[in-house]
Amino acid sequence: MNKFIALMKERLSCSRYEHSLGVARTARELAKLYGADEDKAFLTGILHDYAKELSDQELLQLGIKHNLIVDQAEIKQPQLLHGPVGAVLIKEELGIEDNEILTAVRYHTTGCSGMDKLSQIIYIADYIEPNRKFPEVDSLRKIAYANLTEGVLAGLNSTIKYVVDNHQLLHILSVEARNWMLQNKG
Ligand SMILES: [Fe+2]
Ligand SMILES: [Fe+2]
Repeated sequence: MNKFIALMKERLSCSRYEHSLGVARTARELAKLYGADEDKAFLTGILHDYAKELSDQELLQLGIKHNLIVDQAEIKQPQLLHGPVGAVLIKEELGIEDNEILTAVRYHTTGCSGMDKLSQIIYIADYIEPNRKFPEVDSLRKIAYANLTEGVLAGLNSTIKYVVDNHQLLHILSVEARNWMLQNKG
């Protein structure tokens, strides 16, 4: 674990490294609360933004090379690819083979239908980790610590509203994720 923490400290800016640690700690807490693997949640949190500081051009190139483009939105907003590209890179460069980790990293920005527990934990931990400051973050935290799927659904709703309000392209996977969570929340 320590080698991955050191590697990310080296790789990321100070604030994004602090964000990654915040996601890792929040993910570990949520994993404990909801009966998931705490170490795996922490590791996934540390690694989730592995590709976040690549340029738009690098993300697009890698997205095309690895066949990761699933929606027009990714061409217009290549930052949407940092999850899928990150999943490919941590497999290739760090030898991470665990499919739950790779899936959680891949879909941590958009969500997807059929999100498993680890993917849900990372999605919402990314949203509510202690360094996040936006008006509804406290209410999202409360929801996520009371009911994981309700928390993820609230996060997806909040993202979708933000994207619409800011005239950005809405990623199809976020719509699929929201519809799936709405029908499968427990
Ligand atoms: Fe991210
Ligand atoms: Fe993040």
